[in-house]
Amino acid sequence: MPEFSPGLEGVVAAETAVSEVDGANGRLIYRGGYLIEDLAAVATFEETAYLLWNGKLPNKAELEALRRQMGAARKLKSTANGVLSSMDAATDPMDTLRTVISAQGATKTLTKPTLDEAIALTAVVPTIVAAAHRRAKGAEPVEPRDDLGHAANLLWMMEGAEAAPDRVHWLDTYLVLLADHGLNASTFTARVIASTGSDLTSCTVGAIAALKGPAHGGATYAARTMLDKIGSADNADQWLRDAHAQHARFPGFGHRVYRTYDPRAKILREMAKTAAPELYTTAAHTEEVALQILHEAHPERPNATNVDFWASVVLTGVGIPKELFTCLFATSRIAGWTAHVLESMADLRIIRPASVWKGPQPGSKPLPIGSR
Ligand SMILES: CC(C)(COP(=O)(O)OP(=O)(O)OC[C@H]1O[C@@H](n2cnc3c(N)ncnc32)[C@H](O)[C@@H]1OP(=O)(O)O)[C@@H](O)C(=O)NCCC(=O)NCCS
Repeated sequence: MPEFSPGLEGVVAAETAVSEVDGANGRLIYRGGYLIEDLAAVATFEETAYLLWNGKLPNKAELEALRRQMGAARKLKSTANGVLSSMDAATDPMDTLRTVISAQGATKTLTKPTLDEAIALTAVVPTIVAAAHRRAKGAEPVEPRDDLGHAANLLWMMEGAEAAPDRVHWLDTYLVLLADHGLNASTFTARVIASTGSDLTSCTVGAIAALKGPAHGGATYAARTMLDKIGSADNADQWLRDAHAQHARFPGFGHRVYRTYDPRAKILREMAKTAAPELYTTAAHTEEVALQILHEAHPERPNATNVDFWASVVLTGVGIPKELFTCLFATSRIAGWTAHVLESMADLRIIRPASVWKGPQPGSKPLPIGSR
């Protein structure tokens, strides 16, 4: 019987060529062997998604075809629209996303995951996120456009105006950086659901549910909230030391796999200087103090900055309200979730780990008299 590993730490549960987190060396490698730094410097989200789904970067014609296919899949079906309209406008946008995408992907019978479905689900996420945002503000949703890129169309639908190119570029880079990350909790969830022979929408809905928590995708929102509470650089030391004394975890720090600075955080940190210069100053000092405290607490365990900390600053610079941060994460990671599900189709075996029985042995307690 293999030993119990809390949190499945160190357990190898899949083989994948979609992405690799090299935690010891602080490297993230996307499908095809591309380092995240190299890809983020040149690729758009659409090219990255194509790479994750197909195992190669698209040529011009292939990219054009993907753009057309995504552009045509941006509208909500009438049933999904009905579900959206019936929801309380104040609903947590992640709950809106989870519910409406479930309605969008609902079918009459069980379907096998396909690439076309992966493209359609990925294409429609921004429509739901932007609609949730506008409804919360009491505004009407804005129809998607098929002539804009994925990032530009999201900002268009949120604001009803075309965004400046630098904001689109920051958002697009964020989407490239977050698109996949090995066997993280939400991707694992998607693969577990896929392993039962379930459909792609169900895998996606489960992954969205796993992403929502503050230990995973919800950390970007939590990091921004922490920066709000700290307020200015001179408060950072006191605030963080008080929080640490109360055993609070600093959102945006620590990682199960990385024992170095997260390579995605490095790119976003640099971008934050121009995207959000004011917040950058507070964030940079907060980071310095947080790393010092984490080092003092655990000199043997490097708890470094992770992607969520600097993502919260860059998304602020893009103009995204923090309530939407986890949805933005999902907007990107759905490319990875669906790529993993499609990859796993080649060799499906139900994921069914074991547990250690902690209860009493049969016969050790008398059976209470039942009502039957
Ligand atoms: C990401 C995370 C869930 C990884 O968890 P994990 O691998 O199970 O890490 P562990 O719980 O084993 O942590 C080991 C030690 O480091 C400490 N630690 C880890 N991350 C910390 C953080 N962000 N703030 C404060 N202490 C932290 C833990 O408290 C623990 O110390 P303890 O044994 O004295 O309590 C964890 O680092 C965390 O909660 N980070 C904050 C949330 C976050 O940013 N999530 C996004 C990840 S991309």
